[in-house]
Amino acid sequence: MKSLFDETCIGTIHLRNRLIRSATWEAMADESGRLTPRLIEVYRELADGGVGLIITSATTITSDATRVPGMLSIPDDTFVPVYNELVQTVHDAGAPIVMQLVFPGRNGAFWTPSDPSREDIHSIVKGFGEAAVRAQRAGFDGVEIHAAHGYFLSQFLNDKRNTRTDEYGGTVENRVRFLLEIACEIRARTGANYPLLVKINCSDFEEEDGVWDACQLACRQLAEDGISAIEVSGGISQMPFPPHGMPYEESVFRDYAAEISRITGVPAILVGLNRTPSVLTGLLNTAGIGYFSLSRPFLRQPDLAGYWRNNPDRPAECLSCDACRKQPDGNVCPFRE
Ligand SMILES: Cc1cc2nc3c(=O)[nH]c(=O)nc-3n(C[C@H](O)[C@H](O)[C@H](O)COP(=O)(O)O)c2cc1C
Repeated sequence: MKSLFDETCIGTIHLRNRLIRSATWEAMADESGRLTPRLIEVYRELADGGVGLIITSATTITSDATRVPGMLSIPDDTFVPVYNELVQTVHDAGAPIVMQLVFPGRNGAFWTPSDPSREDIHSIVKGFGEAAVRAQRAGFDGVEIHAAHGYFLSQFLNDKRNTRTDEYGGTVENRVRFLLEIACEIRARTGANYPLLVKINCSDFEEEDGVWDACQLACRQLAEDGISAIEVSGGISQMPFPPHGMPYEESVFRDYAAEISRITGVPAILVGLNRTPSVLTGLLNTAGIGYFSLSRPFLRQPDLAGYWRNNPDRPAECLSCDACRKQPDGNVCPFRE
């Protein structure tokens, strides 16, 4: 029987357990998107707490990319040394770390698929590749493309939100093209052995959004191209979670993640309302889901992985109340002891 505390590998990344901190915008970077001592401390605490793998908060790839306050960025080589310091700190505490890369739009605007010209799309693809190389140079164990939650890239998958009439819109093959080009570009620049992950929506849970079709096609193709792991999420940020039409149940996207794992053979990471070790162990052994990532529970209990190792009968203390998104000074849990 498999255990949450098995030691495993995702590509070249060695994990001490199957629990992952999913990307979580901490709102603690400085105005230019650089790490701060406070942020490094957040990551050190997570690594000390025994987590298997840390995925950074969404990090913008270029200097003109739109950022929300306190968001990280890796727009040029001057950022590499301080990220290297972060990587060293986390590695010293026994955890690997992957950087999540994002492009929300340009110059303060949040883009939709109809905003970029073809040239813009090509420059964004290149931008992802260049940012991945910087992350690699900083020592990150891999990078993750953020294609979930209704942000710019994720909207391309959505048949209703992507109204383009060129080769990036319309058919399902066209809607996945942008994401696949980004993955290829990163692979070409970082080398085939450098771990590449993707976080993708199984569905936006909007009527006839076509996202599940696009998700399956993209994941099949990404698997063929050698993606290292696929983190399966769903819904649109700023909308109720779990999404409209989904029951309130733990590990809410479990069936989708199981299907992605089945059709691709690539390790699936399930995210969203993972709260109870016995539920996760059940999914690990019956649904073929190899990894479980959590966001809000790690804000309340940064040492959750270590805690579960000793207390497998205790669910996470997180109430899923989202108070962590509403704090005046960084996204922290106000109920944390
Ligand atoms: C404060 C906060 C910030 C988040 N920032 C990101 C992010 O930067 N990138 C991302 O892919 N998801 C982000 N998420 C979503 C989480 O990674 C996760 O998919 C979602 O919260 C569901 O998991 P949970 O039930 O364990 O919290 C964020 C969530 C929260 C609560």
